[in-house]
Amino acid sequence: MTQPIPSFRATAGIVPGGLTLSLAGCASTPGTPRTEAATSADLTPYNTLALPARAARLVSVRHVAQLMALRRAQPRFILGGGSNLVFAGDFDGLVLHMAIAGRQLVHEDDDAWYVEAGAGENWHEFVLWTLRSGWPGLENLALIPGSVGAAPIQNIGAYGLEAGERLHRVEAIDMHSGEWVHFDRAACRFGYRDSRWKQEGWHLDGRFAIVRVTFRLPKRWQPQIRYADLAAELADVAQPDAGQIADAVIALRQRKLPDPARLPNAGSFFHNPVVDAAAATRLLASYPALAHYPQPDGRCKLAAGWLIEQAGWKGRRLGPVGMYEKQALVLVNHGGACANDVLALMHAVQRDVRERFGVELTPEPTFFPLLPEGAG
Ligand code: FAD
Ligand code: EPU
Repeated sequence: MTQPIPSFRATAGIVPGGLTLSLAGCASTPGTPRTEAATSADLTPYNTLALPARAARLVSVRHVAQLMALRRAQPRFILGGGSNLVFAGDFDGLVLHMAIAGRQLVHEDDDAWYVEAGAGENWHEFVLWTLRSGWPGLENLALIPGSVGAAPIQNIGAYGLEAGERLHRVEAIDMHSGEWVHFDRAACRFGYRDSRWKQEGWHLDGRFAIVRVTFRLPKRWQPQIRYADLAAELADVAQPDAGQIADAVIALRQRKLPDPARLPNAGSFFHNPVVDAAAATRLLASYPALAHYPQPDGRCKLAAGWLIEQAGWKGRRLGPVGMYEKQALVLVNHGGACANDVLALMHAVQRDVRERFGVELTPEPTFFPLLPEGAG
């Protein structure tokens, strides 16, 4: 680690008059700690791609004390809603399914509302609750599947906003020391679909279990409608409020993205690749229609969905999996797929995009257990 993580104990707090912390547990998650595990647990219902896999042990974590009791168990993996995972095989270890509940306004000052939620809260329900409560700021991130605790892991983003822009702090248990630690926004080292958890490999080894997250929602609210599709969706609304923006985001997402309950998927299967200026200029000279987004550092983000569609994969299947007919960036399981089917399609799409455009696509979801070097 290149930067020390500030840690604090029971009474420290960075929100004036706000949080008090106790190793005894999250105040908003009452209940008796339970550590009994399901053995040889079927993980199929725990991943939105519906890939079959088993874990030697699976525990539902509703209380911080359970993490404390189980923190020496190795190997371990921390699971949220399973919406950004590819289960690549069985896991001979302990899966901690984060179910810590609770959400509340912890502080309010002249400038902002501070709202926190337990790691196991459903992200979309949390967003809707903030909006209903009159605290705008997360509306662009409506309808993203998964849990609050996973939001910082890949710094979820959509329609012109990333969670990191609103994040105040992350509270986590250091599973090595048992300490309760916090990360402010800078300590999370957010990037595009990136965070310190991914940079350090903590998203794989479960080193820091996120137990709750606090967001700072500025009172001087500004609508974020720079994203072209969102602006078009709101073209007839003169001054959209946060609720109208959330409705527009939900409508766009429902039109474009498959509902995992009906057609299993993990959202975008690849990152939008970021290339240097020279590569972007070369590609745009040959393909002027290529959707792209210039970055502040001079590089250029390319729309992977466009590349995949042009490579002929939109709506095309390989065995039981395919690239979604309405959004070529989303890999879908048409039924009965296993990890090898996903890998075969992933490699075929990567090969065709590489051969046609000279661009390398990297997968967005986390593969677990990690594939051997070169396999992914
Ligand atoms: P999981 O998939 O369970 O876990 C993801 C990673 O986080 C794993 O490494 C896991 O170990 C780690 N983790 C989870 N919880 C914790 C915790 N409490 N403490 C420590 N580590 C933890 N993502 C976007 O960014 N933008 C989108 O627009 C978007 N749209 C999507 C649309 C669909 C239809 C789907 C299926 C997915 C989409 N995603 C999107 C991806 C996904 O919703 C997010 O990555 C989400 O944050 C994953 O949450 P989860 O609880 O399901 O995490
Ligand atoms: N496009 C195509 N064909 C396709 C899909 C997309 O040509 O089949 C082109 C279109 O030109 C379109 C552009 O790509 O305008 C962008 O498409 P879209 O607005 O659907 O967004 P995206 O770049 O494909 C990203 C995120 C999504 C997020 C949306 C909205 C990544 C990897 N994906 O997708 O996040 O919801 O923007 O902000 O950055 C996820 O991470 O799982 C996810 C769904």
